[in-house]
Amino acid sequence: MKRVAVLTSGGDAPGMNAAIRAVVRSGVLRSCEMFGVRNGYEGLIAGDFLPLGPRDVGGIIHQGGTMLGTSRCLQFKTNEGQYAALEQLRRRDINALIVIGGNGSQAGAHALAERGMTVLGVASTIDNDLVGTDVSIGSTTALDTAMEAVDRLRVTAASHRRVFLVEVMGRHSGYLAAVVAIAGGAEAIVVPELDTPPEAIAHQLQASRQRGKSHAIVVVAEGARYGVDALSRYFRDQQQQLGLDLRITRLGHVQRGGAPGVYDRMLATRLGAAAIQALLAAETGVLVGLRRGAIAITPLHEVAARTAPLDLQLLELAQGLAT
Ligand code: ADP
Ligand code: F6P
Repeated sequence: MKRVAVLTSGGDAPGMNAAIRAVVRSGVLRSCEMFGVRNGYEGLIAGDFLPLGPRDVGGIIHQGGTMLGTSRCLQFKTNEGQYAALEQLRRRDINALIVIGGNGSQAGAHALAERGMTVLGVASTIDNDLVGTDVSIGSTTALDTAMEAVDRLRVTAASHRRVFLVEVMGRHSGYLAAVVAIAGGAEAIVVPELDTPPEAIAHQLQASRQRGKSHAIVVVAEGARYGVDALSRYFRDQQQQLGLDLRITRLGHVQRGGAPGVYDRMLATRLGAAAIQALLAAETGVLVGLRRGAIAITPLHEVAARTAPLDLQLLELAQGLAT
């Protein structure tokens, strides 16, 4: 009988619980003995395991966050940390590990697979920047949350004829910003993938005012070179010429909270179940994701230490329709 552990790692994402549930229940259905690891790689190194049965993962499919907890664990990036983690798995006769997480977490999964452990990754990050999947667990719910915030900000921006700089997450990726800008009808967008200087944004806002727009939303990715701080400094210095009434909203971790929407519950359930299926088909060192609507299995060496490039057509669409 296989003894399989599951952990969540890196930034929590809405739908991680649904993925844990699917992994555990699919595993038990296929006669595996299932274990959870608390707090990601930190708990793996510390040996913080708990047995998990179908009842233990009841009542969580609709909950955001992760019932197992998660962590950013520097120690796991070291050889010593990885050997300590492997030792904890060996001591319990656990012969497979499922890692639910984003880029960094999958790099960690790859490192364990390279050392001989059977490891499968499940694509989960709000940033949606993983190679090997078109969409990762949590990103759709985070987008909905950010879009709703933009909708609300537009109401007050319009009432006061103001410009709002809205900072969204995404680490080094502009994906969340691009989609929020399109879906929220933003007047301008700033992403890490393009160095847009503040003057260019000021120019776009002036042009938009000349076209009759009384207010504006600028969606700014947190990883952009000229982020909200640089932009607000510039606008403050140029206040006389620009005459913009500016406000700043950083959406921050609000984007990671909340209940997963139907898309993320379905995605997490499909990927979690597929991870067990792949494990029993003797796959290891792979990421389970979704491409063109179908389950996709990608070697972790193609996934680790890379980020999916932003589709520049999204930017064109955002900019082209902000007329
Ligand atoms: P995410 O998985 O959401 O991208 P992080 O980048 O913070 O989040 O990664 C989560 C954890 O994965 C890190 O805290 C670390 O323990 C582990 N990790 C990240 N990068 C590596 C790496 N190159 N090698 C081994 N482990 C890594
Ligand atoms: O990777 C998910 C993410 O929310 C990024 O968008 C963001 O840059 C980062 O995590 C924030 O991390 P923390 O929760 O450690 O502040």
